[in-house]
Amino acid sequence: LRIAVLVSGTGSLLQALLDAEADHTLNATVVVVGADNDAAQGLGRAEQAGVPTFVHPFVKGGDRAAWDAEFTRQVAAHDVDLVVLAGFMKLVGPAFLGRFGGRTINTHPALLPSFPGMHGPRDALAHGVKITGTTVFEVDAGVDTGRILAQEAVPVLPDDSVESLHERIKVAERALLVRTVNELAHQGDS
Ligand code: GRF
Repeated sequence: LRIAVLVSGTGSLLQALLDAEADHTLNATVVVVGADNDAAQGLGRAEQAGVPTFVHPFVKGGDRAAWDAEFTRQVAAHDVDLVVLAGFMKLVGPAFLGRFGGRTINTHPALLPSFPGMHGPRDALAHGVKITGTTVFEVDAGVDTGRILAQEAVPVLPDDSVESLHERIKVAERALLVRTVNELAHQGDS
């Protein structure tokens, strides 16, 4: 399975995939890493692992359709079977979904459909839930609305801050993402 990974930030989810690949516990190859900003630390992680990268920034107030088309073209140039959004903070557009819909997955730091959007850990904490978690889902045109592929529960502890809770969720999120990619690769084999 040839996968593209899209990042915006720290890239620890990407690192989990790269580590699993290096350990031969990932049934897939990361063939390209794309980012929407050149400060994304995930780019350095990819370079370290010898994976080609591209950056295609969205300029504020710019042409969304043109950005979408060019981003899609850059991913498509690498002949990928699966796209993984790994902390990618932009919504992919219609051109992207036209090409990669049904084979693009994302992870979310909450148990969807609870707490969608940018602040899953903060919202879970504010709501006072005792259990939250992480979800891997298929990307559609909505915000965190796609078909759920896998979930794992994570406890909220009494003295949690948003940061400590998010960190605990991310540990589960990394493992769940690796597992889900392997399951998808396995389905592709049969
Ligand atoms: C993850 O929790 C992801 O679900 C959220 O941001 C985090 C990304 O972390 N949207 P990283 O950039 O992979 O370290």
